[in-house]
Amino acid sequence: MKDKEKIAQIARTITLVCSIVVVGLLISACQSNISLKKVSLPSDSNPLIDEKSAGEDFAYPTKDPSIVEGKKFYAANCASCHSFTKEPNKHEFTVSYINKVTPSHLFKTITSNPKHPSFKENLSIKERWDIVMYLRSELFGLPEDFEKVKTEFGANCAVCHGTRGFADGNIHYYLNPKPANFNQFDRLYEKTDEKIFDEISNGIPWTAMPPWAGREDKQKHYEFDDKFRWQLVKYVRQFGYSTEADVLRKDEYFKQSDESDYKKK
Ligand code: HEC
Ligand code: HEC
Repeated sequence: MKDKEKIAQIARTITLVCSIVVVGLLISACQSNISLKKVSLPSDSNPLIDEKSAGEDFAYPTKDPSIVEGKKFYAANCASCHSFTKEPNKHEFTVSYINKVTPSHLFKTITSNPKHPSFKENLSIKERWDIVMYLRSELFGLPEDFEKVKTEFGANCAVCHGTRGFADGNIHYYLNPKPANFNQFDRLYEKTDEKIFDEISNGIPWTAMPPWAGREDKQKHYEFDDKFRWQLVKYVRQFGYSTEADVLRKDEYFKQSDESDYKKK
């Protein structure tokens, strides 16, 4: 009797262990099925290696690229083959080209485009971004009427986007999605000027971003015509780089703090 019970218990244990193992095997088989589906094998249309190396080569800057620095690096590295006017044997940069490509595309051209000389060995990531933003600003820089555009931005856009473009305007808290932060590189550097112009003109559906084409400002001083909306694109862009004026202001700041240090002594 006792032996029979023991055997029955052992049999039960063996069945239990077996079923656990079987279930385990089934689960792991399913999992490997799932993960197999996720892996797409490299092919001509899906070159895994290119993607990987491009990913390693690409990085956003850690602070606003400097136009002043970019000008020097451009002169030393690009001017031999490129110019901003028609010159024999040189590739000309035009505004219409610059408006059609993203800043990231320009960075990738001089970093990982196999059809173009790569500068990734000779120039740091920061230096390459300095060049990209200098190149852009040379063709599509600050708004011509900077102070006026700044005032209109303050009166019409800052309530959501904030005066410094940090998406921290008075009503930002109540909005979903949040207003765009114009200092966010992974957002603005992935858009062409034409795209930004389109968004300012027509607004963004299902968000608080209104269309501005043809509007007048509150005091009816200014119409949001094509020309003015292109000035706004330039204004939105200037949050993404630093200019000579910014550098001068910083110098001024350091000069002042030097003087006050000096006075203390
Ligand atoms: C040795 C010559 C040479 C140098 C140096 C050079 N480039 Fe180029 N670049 C070219 C040529 C050639 C093209 C292709 C022109 C064409 O397709 O019409 C080109 C095209 C480009 C384009 C357009 C790419 C596209 O398809 O969108 C950009 C942007 C560019 N270069 C940026 C730069 C920058 C920035 C530098 C300096 C860091 C630089 N290049 C240095 C020769 C050069
Ligand atoms: C009532 C709030 C509000 C006002 C006023 C407003 N915006 Fe926006 N804006 C938004 C929101 C919200 C988004 C983000 C929409 C999204 O996430 O797709 C946005 C997105 C944008 C974008 C797209 C950028 C990006 O990276 O997605 C641009 C450019 C822009 N606004 C410019 C302006 C300008 C210029 C003005 C003034 C003429 C203005 N906005 C006024 C709420 C506003």
